[in-house]
Amino acid sequence: MKIFILFCFLGIEYISALSSPWSWECKNERCTKKEILKGEEEKAVSLEACQMYCSRNSGLWPKPTGKVDISNNLVPLNPSQIEINSRRTSPLTAKAAKLFKEDLISRIATTRDSANNDGKPLSINIFLTEPDTDKLTLETDESYNLILAPDDKGKVQVNITAPNFYGSRHGLETLGQLIIYDDLRNKLMVPSTAYIVDKPAYPYRGILLDTSRNYISVDAIKKTINGMAASKLNTFHWHITDSHSFPYVSKSRPELSLYGAYSPKKVYTEKDIEEIVDFAKSRGVRVMPEFDAPAHVGEGWQKTGYVICLNAQPWGSYCVEPPCGQFDVTKDGLYDALEDIYGDMVDQFDPDIFHMGGDEVHFTCWNNTKSITDWMAKKGWGREEKDFAKLWGYFQDNAVERLFKKTNKNIPIIMWTSTLTKKEHIAKYLPKDKYIIQIWTTGSDPQIDELLSEGYKLILSNYDALYLDCGFAGWVTDGNNWCSPYIGWQKVYDNNPRKIAGSKVSQILGSEAALWTEQVDSTSVDSRLWPRAAAMAETLWSDPQTSWREAESRFLIHRERLVRRGIDADALEPEWCLQNENECPINKV
Ligand SMILES: *[C@@H]1O[C@H](CO)[C@@H](O)[C@H](O)[C@H]1NC(C)=O
Ligand SMILES: *[C@@H]1O[C@H](CO)[C@@H](O)[C@H](O)[C@H]1NC(C)=O
Repeated sequence: MKIFILFCFLGIEYISALSSPWSWECKNERCTKKEILKGEEEKAVSLEACQMYCSRNSGLWPKPTGKVDISNNLVPLNPSQIEINSRRTSPLTAKAAKLFKEDLISRIATTRDSANNDGKPLSINIFLTEPDTDKLTLETDESYNLILAPDDKGKVQVNITAPNFYGSRHGLETLGQLIIYDDLRNKLMVPSTAYIVDKPAYPYRGILLDTSRNYISVDAIKKTINGMAASKLNTFHWHITDSHSFPYVSKSRPELSLYGAYSPKKVYTEKDIEEIVDFAKSRGVRVMPEFDAPAHVGEGWQKTGYVICLNAQPWGSYCVEPPCGQFDVTKDGLYDALEDIYGDMVDQFDPDIFHMGGDEVHFTCWNNTKSITDWMAKKGWGREEKDFAKLWGYFQDNAVERLFKKTNKNIPIIMWTSTLTKKEHIAKYLPKDKYIIQIWTTGSDPQIDELLSEGYKLILSNYDALYLDCGFAGWVTDGNNWCSPYIGWQKVYDNNPRKIAGSKVSQILGSEAALWTEQVDSTSVDSRLWPRAAAMAETLWSDPQTSWREAESRFLIHRERLVRRGIDADALEPEWCLQNENECPINKV
């Protein structure tokens, strides 16, 4: 059993200041609740303090992948004396430092009183070895190491060394988790020494948010990104448009959002997007736009003549959910419109990867449109599935050419699994050196192994574990929605790419939790995403060899952390289970 020593500030004032009769002690690596006895007040330990030295991995989420050595001694910090120095810095580092300070100070400001000035100053040094890397790519090294030790002037000194900004901000995030709030003494405390080496197992760790089915406010998007930063997720995949609404204000095609937004206010202006992209970047998150086509288009395109089957009925014959809509890919003008939209997106998002959607194209829609079947007949094409796949391939080639015209170079393109990714079509239309495939079918779909065997790189969003909109009421009829039941965090956690891809796991870039918003808007986005998306975050960062059971008590700690950062994360269990570690699961670890 570990021995816990409270350093340096024992004194009568703290005894009288104790605000609760409960203390925690470390028994068998678990924090156990215990009454504070008379005369033992000095030794009383708060729950957060106990978790720091007693719990496995010190409550860190996601758990570090390299060496971890954290002292059992906690020392108090003075939150008004935090200095952050960086040599060979990146301009983003200054922003991250500011965020770090604000987070610490907010933890104290929300507490009852603030007799905190007798703690130790905190001095943080950030060393970047490749400070010029300020754009996140699939090759970015997000590692860091952190050394925390007292210096000779009595300060707590922390050195964070990382190749670039992204690693260093993860290091600051970990440091923030090492600093706990002791509610018995109203103090921030930190281990007296710590050594952590850490890097993620997968380069792509994402959340998809759909802002077309329902509009999501800029504030709610920022909160989502805050939760991602706290959990070391790095990709905000913005499914910004669909057939339901077109909230994206395109500089060069403003009529699309004019006609397609739910209201003049339910749009994302150039300024909104700039704000979100900056907000995300300083939190280590890339914003990757998706312009889904040639299906999943509709509202907004009415005046262009490029969309067919718009709100076709019965919708079940032409699309997967109302309203239907699909591009007439034979219209030359469509590609000019796409080039404009891509150009606007490239300017605003500066993407290192681009998502072209490309799912759920209904051939029945094209097959029932005379202008299209005439166009195909003129080329001597038939009307079989393979011919419509060819038509889709024609669209894809032309669309990509227009995209690359705007990026000035080839960048990786992500597409969803679809008819086009079937074995008989994919090599012809979606070459593996250009395309990354995002899986949305189940984790046991044989297509996964087929694609891996063909050499494709994949991102996993298998709906049976990572669609966080599942498990609510139906909306096109009664009963439950199509992908019910609700997916618990345990299933999300155990959805390990290694288990899905086996020996070909090196071709898995990572995973992405998807939140489609048919039944979600700004009022509920937090509770749908959190804390479940953070369960995936650990699977991707730490590649745990153990199941959710090992993670349970730490996950409850992380959920509290998310709430503290202003995210309305769902409650997972009675708070009693947080205070009585490992007592709730039926089969204890
Ligand atoms: C942290 O960096 C400073 C400045 O380079 C150095 O003097 C100090 O020894 C380092 N601390 C540790 C614990 O490595
Ligand atoms: C397209 O329509 C024709 C005529 O109705 C039909 O023979 C053909 O099977 C259809 N193609 C597909 C892929 O459904």
